[in-house]
Amino acid sequence: MSLPIPRGVSIDALRTASLSCQGCELHQAQPGSLSGPTQTVFSKGNPAARVVFVGEQPGDMEDRAGVPFVGPAGQLFDRAMAEAGIDPRQAYVTNSVKHFRFLQDRPNGRRIHKTPDATHVEACKPWLRAELTIVDPEVIVALGATAGRALVGPQFRVTRDRGKVMPWPPSGDAGFGSDPSRRRAVSLVATSHPSAVLRADNQEAAYKELVADLQLVARLLA
Ligand code: URA
Repeated sequence: MSLPIPRGVSIDALRTASLSCQGCELHQAQPGSLSGPTQTVFSKGNPAARVVFVGEQPGDMEDRAGVPFVGPAGQLFDRAMAEAGIDPRQAYVTNSVKHFRFLQDRPNGRRIHKTPDATHVEACKPWLRAELTIVDPEVIVALGATAGRALVGPQFRVTRDRGKVMPWPPSGDAGFGSDPSRRRAVSLVATSHPSAVLRADNQEAAYKELVADLQLVARLLA
């Protein structure tokens, strides 16, 4: 399905166009679920940023607010960024998938997060590609496995690949190919997803690793 993606426009215009996206089934209630998401959750931050952070998909609070990373994972992420010395006003933050995928099997029941499939990531990729073309960052940070696979390909493993600087786009085809309108050489750094830090058995150690990876990003931007 072709998406309603305008070319050569601003992030604000992309965001507006994304509100009507029906590029996959996630804009509506999923089979077995009583409700669908509230809205497309596009991005936040500075469209002229030197660093772009890519998460997985909006969660429950993000879906209600229409803004990424405002819930518990977002709060942990903000704290880790501050500790690493990255100014959030100099960052652009988005997700691999722009709709909340969840299961709600009882009226007014809890909306239980479901990881997006590769098909959802692929369907949403034209938005991410358009965002990266407009922002044209020097550094891209993949937050967790879904973002890593979206940006690098199915071979990505967060345990193996986090905390390293990789050239981007990768040599295999992760769907980003060569884009003549991207002007800069880009480095990609992968790290754990803030939600994974919240779920870790040793939360303190996982948080320290996240901060160390973000300090690496801060050094690339220095
Ligand atoms: N997790 C994500 O990956 N993105 C959000 O916006 C919130 C939680």
